[in-house]
Amino acid sequence: MLEQLLAFVEQEMLISTTQILTISLSFQEHMTKGLSGLASSLKMFPSYLGAPSGGETGTFLAFDFGGSNVRAALVDLKGEGNYLEFYRQSRPLANPETGYDYRDEAVTAAELFDFLAGIIQEVLNKAPVRPTHCSLLTGPLPLGFAFSFPYRQQRIGEGVLLHWDKEVKTSGVAGKDVGCLLNDALSRCGLDQDVKPTAIINDTVATYLTAAYGDPGIEIASIIGTGHNSCYLEPRVPNFESPILINTESGNFSAAPTTFYDLILDQQSENPGEQLFEKKLSGKYLGELLRIIVLDFSQRGVLKLMLPPRWHTPYDVNGKDLALILTEKADLDLNSSIRSGSEGLILQRIAHLLTKRSARLAAASFIGIVQHLDPYFENPHTIAVDGSLYEKMPGYAQEIRAALNDGLGTKSDLIKVRLSSGSSLTGAAIAAALVSLNANNS
Ligand code: GLC
Repeated sequence: MLEQLLAFVEQEMLISTTQILTISLSFQEHMTKGLSGLASSLKMFPSYLGAPSGGETGTFLAFDFGGSNVRAALVDLKGEGNYLEFYRQSRPLANPETGYDYRDEAVTAAELFDFLAGIIQEVLNKAPVRPTHCSLLTGPLPLGFAFSFPYRQQRIGEGVLLHWDKEVKTSGVAGKDVGCLLNDALSRCGLDQDVKPTAIINDTVATYLTAAYGDPGIEIASIIGTGHNSCYLEPRVPNFESPILINTESGNFSAAPTTFYDLILDQQSENPGEQLFEKKLSGKYLGELLRIIVLDFSQRGVLKLMLPPRWHTPYDVNGKDLALILTEKADLDLNSSIRSGSEGLILQRIAHLLTKRSARLAAASFIGIVQHLDPYFENPHTIAVDGSLYEKMPGYAQEIRAALNDGLGTKSDLIKVRLSSGSSLTGAAIAAALVSLNANNS
């Protein structure tokens, strides 16, 4: 019975070579539709920024809000991939000591943005009146804002939040321009003469900018961590003369195969029907999928485990647990004798299936983007990837490579996937530089 059930799950989770190609084609189709404004699961948001030249220099304020921690710093861009970060301040949105949580629905937009502006103020308080390394001696410091939630923008300084994700529920922000909300909060703090928010970017765009600042060959950037998303440099965007970075919001791609367990996860999630690709792929959900599968096996009586309480609590098993299971280091509060026993091996098999499926889905989307840029696979392409899953999950990067090889054969040599771990702060500073340098030149 156990073997049969496992074989069934294995079959369901398998992404065959043919499926890699079907998914990549359909990803490409959704890209084309999204770009032409037709109904598509890929939103294909223009970022209003192109690639950096590497020659951008100067000191900029950088701000990063993309999850449970908020960060701000001064970044000194030195050119050709070199930079230094100063006076970094990092604050959690939830403070266990005070019990306050800025992600809470009871918190207003003004309260959240006053808190955010306060972090920027702390950076400025730490910095000398005008830092000696700052190339801009007068006028407000340009600020780049990495905002990693789905938002729509019609110019670089704007970001209208479509809806929150990643457990943030603060009231009164959805449908509003976070650029305006930040400006208002900076004015309330008396900082409007010191700081000038100039650019709002997504974290994938930040990854792209950071990687491309030192390596002009980069065309695609992706985050494979708690969340998942990719952006790329689109050469042909109507109404734009030069190439523009497009934020695909690929986490919402809807045409990947769905298993029985994916349906359960989606139905029990806070946003059913949304972010379906991310729910099969990213760190936040892989642990939850493992939990759902193991719970199901245990309830069917095929897995004889006394599951500890956290295995009954949604999202209490996470990507880190999965990594530990894969490396056989997990205790998971289970009786340790189970670890080395057959049940431990079963957990490991399921963890492996989930990780492998995630990597193969990511690879299929990468092939889709490359195919869009270069239909006959004639040129080399480099993809910069950031995120804990790609960086830390044992075997993950190798599974992506294997999937590219399966899907493309010898042509897969044309695709280089490389780690680009840095903070979104650097990308935000580069974005601020691109906007201010453009404004100065025009
Ligand atoms: C989520 C957000 C997206 C972000 C990604 C990675 O999918 O919707 O904007 O880029 O997470 O952080």
